[in-house]
Amino acid sequence: MVNASTSAGLIGVVLLARHGDRTSTLYQDPATYNSTQGYLSALGAQQEYELGQFLRNTYLNPGSPSYIQGINTDIVDVDQLYVRADAGGGNVILDSAYALLQGLYPPNPSSAITLANGKVATPPLGGYQYVPVESLEFWQAPALTSWMECEYFDLHLSRLNSGVVFKDLTAAAAPFLEAVTPYLNGLNNSFLNMWNIYDYINVQYTHNKTFYENFPVTLLEQARYFANQHEQNVFTDSVITGVGQIPIRTLWPEILWSLGNMTESSNKVKIALTEVDYKPFISLFNVTNATVSNPNISGIADYASVVALELSQTAQGQYNIAMKFKNGTNDNQFHTLKFWGSDNITLDHLMSIVDASRINSTVNWCFSCNQTVLRGCSVFNYSNDPFLNPTSSTGY
Ligand SMILES: *[C@@H]1O[C@H](CO)[C@@H](O)[C@H](O)[C@H]1NC(C)=O
Ligand SMILES: *[C@@H]1O[C@H](CO)[C@@H](O)[C@H](O)[C@H]1NC(C)=O
Ligand SMILES: *[C@@H]1O[C@H](CO)[C@@H](O)[C@H](O)[C@H]1NC(C)=O
Ligand SMILES: *[C@@H]1O[C@H](CO)[C@@H](O)[C@H](O)[C@H]1NC(C)=O
Ligand SMILES: *[C@@H]1O[C@H](CO)[C@@H](O)[C@H](O)[C@H]1NC(C)=O
Ligand SMILES: *[C@@H]1O[C@H](CO)[C@@H](O)[C@H](O)[C@H]1NC(C)=O
Ligand SMILES: *[C@@H]1O[C@H](CO)[C@@H](O)[C@H](O)[C@H]1NC(C)=O
Ligand SMILES: *[C@@H]1O[C@H](CO)[C@@H](O)[C@H](O)[C@H]1NC(C)=O
Ligand SMILES: *[C@@H]1O[C@H](CO)[C@@H](O)[C@H](O)[C@H]1NC(C)=O
Ligand SMILES: *[C@@H]1O[C@H](CO)[C@@H](O)[C@H](O)[C@H]1NC(C)=O
Ligand SMILES: *[C@@H]1O[C@H](CO)[C@@H](O)[C@H](O)[C@H]1NC(C)=O
Ligand SMILES: *[C@@H]1O[C@H](CO)[C@@H](O)[C@H](O)[C@H]1NC(C)=O
Repeated sequence: MVNASTSAGLIGVVLLARHGDRTSTLYQDPATYNSTQGYLSALGAQQEYELGQFLRNTYLNPGSPSYIQGINTDIVDVDQLYVRADAGGGNVILDSAYALLQGLYPPNPSSAITLANGKVATPPLGGYQYVPVESLEFWQAPALTSWMECEYFDLHLSRLNSGVVFKDLTAAAAPFLEAVTPYLNGLNNSFLNMWNIYDYINVQYTHNKTFYENFPVTLLEQARYFANQHEQNVFTDSVITGVGQIPIRTLWPEILWSLGNMTESSNKVKIALTEVDYKPFISLFNVTNATVSNPNISGIADYASVVALELSQTAQGQYNIAMKFKNGTNDNQFHTLKFWGSDNITLDHLMSIVDASRINSTVNWCFSCNQTVLRGCSVFNYSNDPFLNPTSSTGY
């Protein structure tokens, strides 16, 4: 696995991780995908903790080919990490980030400090290491929940919901939907409701003994199959600048800034982690064409999945990115994905390809969504909005 260009180790890594198992379903309105987060379950906490251990083995272990140069291995240096998580509702995503960090930097008695008076203070729980996490609430900024209250995204959904792709899938799913109806406890069994059907089944099958004992497992596989098909259409688009790709389009700025900053000698951050739900994975794998060589990654990523953008430097001094993916707890290793057919890509090339699709700020988001009121959009001057005023020469 070790090759000349990476044997010196990585410079840094940008991670997107999916939250762990939750205690209840995530109801998403089929016409808007608006929703409220649930709570992390004990199982979910364990999944994230294991993901943290996996990442620790991969990136903090000096014997690993992916060891990050100069990173603290046991006692965290909080300046080396940048962690951000979508917050709100029951905080399943934010709490997932905490559980992951517990596996990444487990409690260590050496994290004790000596006070001015000579007394030693050890953190609770045998040296628990507290890593700051920047939490982003729904009302603060749209970056991590960019599909919600986005008018153009709703338009995209209504086009899909009345379009030919979903008509065909409705026909293909009809026998499944009929067979599964008795188990849905009155939930609408339309294919358009496929996310909610799958999520209901998955949560019940995980947490409800009666359901688990009575539900035919082949129907669970079919539910996942059709939900994968459904979500794969919802969170992709025909072009990388399309509104269906919005979950990754609002993440690109931070991803590219983090990678760019890692190339500077003054930079301290070596791991930049954003904890998210399943949507950005689907958009990312579509916009990078990773799904062309790996068609099995076009669906929903399992709980506690992770995608890594690893930054290294070639012998010629070029900054290179490799993309790796692990599909949840049941997948025990990273798979290298391809960017537009290549095993890696230079940072400059990646930036140039995705540049035009980046949504850099709230005002960009308002324009890209045709939202002039909600989510902080009312403060902006829309006489420059290219959608509202297509003849405006200033653009944005
Ligand atoms: C969408 O969900 C958020 C909470 O996640 C809530 O604050 C907001 O009011 C909802 N919007 C609509 C239009 O229902
Ligand atoms: C089920 O959902 C579909 C799509 O949203 C809707 O057209 C239909 O009226 C709903 N059925 C019931 C019984 O509510
Ligand atoms: C558990 O599953 C059974 C059988 O489907 C159902 O009747 C019951 O309402 C479920 N319990 C909960 C708490 O959802
Ligand atoms: C470093 O990050 C900041 C935002 O946090 C960004 O403005 C700047 O362009 C980044 N630097 C590089 C070299 O990418
Ligand atoms: C990306 O998504 C669009 C729309 O769903 C689809 O037509 C296209 O084939 C996908 N591209 C890849 C590379 O999977
Ligand atoms: C996709 O499926 C192939 C063949 O089953 C497997 O070798 C590969 O590891 C899978 N890729 C991912 C990312 O799971
Ligand atoms: C992850 O694995 C599940 C099966 O556990 C599969 O249905 C799904 O398509 C996979 N998702 C990705 C993004 O590979
Ligand atoms: C991405 O994949 C699509 C097929 O879905 C193909 O038409 C397109 O040429 C590919 N783009 C690149 C840059 O490889
Ligand atoms: C980039 O990919 C090529 C193969 O496509 C490989 O030979 C090379 O080692 C990779 N470079 C890095 C830095 O991963
Ligand atoms: C975000 O910034 C990049 C780089 O400056 C630019 O190319 C892109 O057009 C901007 N996106 C929007 C929506 O303004
Ligand atoms: C954008 O929203 C405005 C109202 O805020 C509406 O007049 C206009 O038609 C919308 N544009 C599109 C393309 O939907
Ligand atoms: C909004 O922008 C336009 C065009 O740049 C400018 O003429 C106008 O004065 C601005 N309005 C306000 C309230 O700032």
